[in-house]
Amino acid sequence: MFIAIEGIDGVGKSTVISLLKERLMSSGFKVYTTSEPSQSPIGRLIRDWLLKQGSNVAHPSIFALLFVADRTQHYYGEVKPMLDNGYLVISERYMESTLAYQGAMGLPTDWLVELHRFVPKPNLTVILDVPVDVAITRLRGRRELEVFEVNKDFLSKVRDILLNRARANGYPVINADRNVDVVVDDVYELIVSALRR
Ligand code: TYD
Repeated sequence: MFIAIEGIDGVGKSTVISLLKERLMSSGFKVYTTSEPSQSPIGRLIRDWLLKQGSNVAHPSIFALLFVADRTQHYYGEVKPMLDNGYLVISERYMESTLAYQGAMGLPTDWLVELHRFVPKPNLTVILDVPVDVAITRLRGRRELEVFEVNKDFLSKVRDILLNRARANGYPVINADRNVDVVVDDVYELIVSALRR
């Protein structure tokens, strides 16, 4: 089973995923966690160039093309082999990140969806959600801010797209403005009930 955890910057994806991994492993699951931008050469290019230099460094379509290229390599080079080995794979960010962030940059949804023709959808997509102000407060306490993290209007757009697509596609939305253990419990339950289906 392949699970994607999505949400705006500062929602707490990494923390939730590492606690979730422990929970699932102590219940006897083989779990592999990974994230995007990935460790592939394309992921490195994204981090060293696009995310460092800012959204004006390249046309928005270049952002989409590189994120999806990285995703395609990540899926076939890393995710699929682990799924084939019987692991439950959890990815921090996947296609909904491109739909939301590059959608918020102004790119048309149908084109963004079309770019994903060769990458499979996850079995389960979970959206972690907090109000943008909460996310920004969390980010400020963390480290130097990346390109997309500094702009409240932009993050609000990203959040709106995530929530609209969640509604349209039936993705569960988890309120992450609560104690992290409670958030982890909720995501754990979603995974276990998806596995039972
Ligand atoms: P992030 O999850 O913040 O990575 P890290 O925790 O390593 O800094 O992702 C980096 C940024 O990239 C984040 O602002 C969201 C953005 N992003 C996109 O714009 N499109 C995408 O497809 C992905 C995967 C990320």
